[in-house]
Amino acid sequence: MASNRTSIHGQWSSKWVFILAVTGSAVGLGNIWRFPYATADNGGGAFVLVYLVCVALVGLPIMMAEIMLGRRGRQSPINTMKTLAEDERQSRHWYLLGVMGVFAGFIILTFYSIVAGWTVAYVFQAMSGVFIGADAQQTQDLFGDLVSDPKRLLLWHTVFMSMTIFVISRGVRSGLEQAVRYLMPALFFLLVVLVVYSMSTPGFSEAMSFLFKPDFSQIEPSTILVALGHAFFTLSLGMGALMTYGSYLSDRTSIPTTSVAIAVMDTGAALLAGMAIFPIMFTYGLQPEEGGPGLIFKILPIAFGQMPYGRGLGVMFFVLLMLAAWTSAISLLEPVTAWLVEKKGYTRIRAAMSAGFVAWVLGIGSLLSLNLWSGAKLFGLTFFELVEYLSVNVLLPVGGLLMAVFAGWLMSKSSSLDELKSGRIGYMAWKVGAMYIAPAGVIIILLHNAFGLWGS
Ligand code: TRP
Repeated sequence: MASNRTSIHGQWSSKWVFILAVTGSAVGLGNIWRFPYATADNGGGAFVLVYLVCVALVGLPIMMAEIMLGRRGRQSPINTMKTLAEDERQSRHWYLLGVMGVFAGFIILTFYSIVAGWTVAYVFQAMSGVFIGADAQQTQDLFGDLVSDPKRLLLWHTVFMSMTIFVISRGVRSGLEQAVRYLMPALFFLLVVLVVYSMSTPGFSEAMSFLFKPDFSQIEPSTILVALGHAFFTLSLGMGALMTYGSYLSDRTSIPTTSVAIAVMDTGAALLAGMAIFPIMFTYGLQPEEGGPGLIFKILPIAFGQMPYGRGLGVMFFVLLMLAAWTSAISLLEPVTAWLVEKKGYTRIRAAMSAGFVAWVLGIGSLLSLNLWSGAKLFGLTFFELVEYLSVNVLLPVGGLLMAVFAGWLMSKSSSLDELKSGRIGYMAWKVGAMYIAPAGVIIILLHNAFGLWGS
């Protein structure tokens, strides 16, 4: 039976807008900044393969579960979980899953905004022409200068956070629909242009083997956990962003079809980014491990400095990357905002500003850990790395696991069958994924890693 609930925050004007918004959320820094450097850090092809398997077997069923829960509850993740637990006569503590999610997204936003700030800074760098003819040493120095300067970082962090708060205050529909309709296709187009350029460089074949020829001797428990965490991060899973977006989705849309389309686009964007970046990296003799989180900011400017129309293309690329980061950051701030509106009765503007302000303040911690506080470490990680590690590799997988368990095991068949809007085969496939494959995958990887780390 349909739930007959409606969302007080509005509804997407069509299925396409939903697909665009979720793609906007999914495609972001995760694909273009994080995927290449995580791949470089974790040995290449084997990591890529595990990541792809995680997307297909763990990510997809959880994505469907998360959107489904959102559409059924039609509120912020916290109230959605509360309502659904009542509907299905489950423990009222399930609302804590919503709390954990809202918290995780909020924490991710704090460091996401810092990296997004780098992309804004790079728009101006590209415009100024400093990349023209620059060699690998010069582009590394440019990046080093940026991250060692707290004032510049603070400026761009502030600019980016304000942009995010601005869209969220205006409401998801008017704010977001316009942003994603043309920009996402433009970003894909530019990635293809970069890949075509990279194909002409001598490092192309080495890059292709690095990306697509798995070397299994490189796989460690931590590689697998990072690949799993990255699959959640890049698909925006496990914290309620998609639950919130699902809560604005019309009752008729098929969740499996749209989820598959979104996962394919997201994965495509990451692979294109890898194919654009690694050939240039190898061409200039840089080692994968040298890049770190600055990888794309050190590598791509070399290409823009060499290629025809490089200056214009460089500006366009960083503008589009910034916009992709923007449409993702929006989905990180929306769940907290929706919850503050529901719980405290704040206006959207007040809710977005208060949550955004707190995220901005916490972000300063990550910002300073890149320079002034770079020596302060806990478990060998800086504040930035610690926040990133815990939210992405722990909170998101645990959140996703619990969503799969709720949707797969605790929701009645009539509710899930009714909500998924798919044929029998699609439903069965989802059910097996959400009940067995995804939970087993997450549990095994988390435990394996925990014991692997304790053992060493
Ligand atoms: N998926 C986005 C990216 O790849 C980041 C993101 C947006 C996200 N919303 C999220 C990650 C929710 C986890 C959860 O850049």
